[in-house]
Amino acid sequence: MVELLAARGLDSSDEWIVERTGIRNRHFVADGMQASDLAFQACRAALAAAGLKVSDIDLIVLATSTPDMVFPSTATILQHKLTQAALAEGDASGAGGAAFDVQAVCSGFIYALTVADSLIKTGTATKALVVGAEVFSRILDFNDRTTCVLFGDGAGAVVLEACEHDGSGAGILASDIHADGKHTGILCVPGTVCGGAVLGDPLLKMDGQAVFKLAVGVLEDAARAVLAKAGKTEADVDWLVPHQANIRIMQSTARKLKLPMDKVVVTVDQHGNTSAASIPLALDHAVRGGLVKPGQTVLMEGVGGGFTWGAVLVKM
Ligand SMILES: CC(C)(COP(=O)(O)OP(=O)(O)OC[C@H]1O[C@@H](n2cnc3c(N)ncnc32)[C@H](O)[C@@H]1OP(=O)(O)O)[C@@H](O)C(=O)NCCC(=O)NCCS
Repeated sequence: MVELLAARGLDSSDEWIVERTGIRNRHFVADGMQASDLAFQACRAALAAAGLKVSDIDLIVLATSTPDMVFPSTATILQHKLTQAALAEGDASGAGGAAFDVQAVCSGFIYALTVADSLIKTGTATKALVVGAEVFSRILDFNDRTTCVLFGDGAGAVVLEACEHDGSGAGILASDIHADGKHTGILCVPGTVCGGAVLGDPLLKMDGQAVFKLAVGVLEDAARAVLAKAGKTEADVDWLVPHQANIRIMQSTARKLKLPMDKVVVTVDQHGNTSAASIPLALDHAVRGGLVKPGQTVLMEGVGGGFTWGAVLVKM
């Protein structure tokens, strides 16, 4: 990245990026690869971990701000890819039910989890894939060193399943989601498609300091609100899985909530900010790495363009 910036006459260094953000590595997709391709891989891994088949799924909620197309939704494209793969592997049928996208930028996964949980609790769906998938490399301005060093591509997915209460108390304990559209200008991609052409600027714009200030405030508020809704306190949290935007934002949130950093799952060093994919990627890392265990209480929270923010409290 630093070499890429230097080739464009922009000055940066690994030291600056690591010190200000905590980011050491990021991943960009190959040409031709889309958010649905990343989502496909993440969903296959989630289904395998849950011991389920594609045909068991009756809802797909996909959070993205970098969809494959204007429409149809990336969720429906993903549903078709999962179905094709299942049929090719000899399954009798593919995924059914509803599939749609949620657009809440870096809070997308928190919004998607909340929506899927609500649809399950009302009996509309029984088994849902909830996915965050992004190809932010497609909307970065590589002439802007203040933004292009921060974001990466990725996807993560979970399966949510309706179940009878088994006494364990496992499941989503509470959600808290918010938006305030007056902050549109501090983090946005202001372009649109009109008359067959891109109108405006299709690359990401951000006022980093304004975003930083807003993020640390609302992340504390969301954490406290979701804990209060669930009748819990900070002391009940085994793990904080925050949106992976900047290590300093995570440290600040942990400090405010009086949580030690060894209770915070940190993957921003490995992926950078992957927007809607960052929380499920971090959760996957923590579960597969044996950090997060059944019975533990996990607080996930995100903040992003809009502005949007929110938190979900889960007993694993
Ligand atoms: C973007 C961010 C890392 C910048 O860090 P910062 O400590 O606020 O840095 P500043 O904006 O004050 O810039 C300090 C200096 O570094 C420079 N700088 C900016 N990007 C740089 C880069 N990639 N390499 C080297 N220098 C850089 C600035 O131009 C500025 O130089 P100046 O003092 O000569 O004007 C930080 O504001 C941030 O993380 N904000 C939140 C972003 C975010 O999380 N967005 C997603 C939310 S979902």
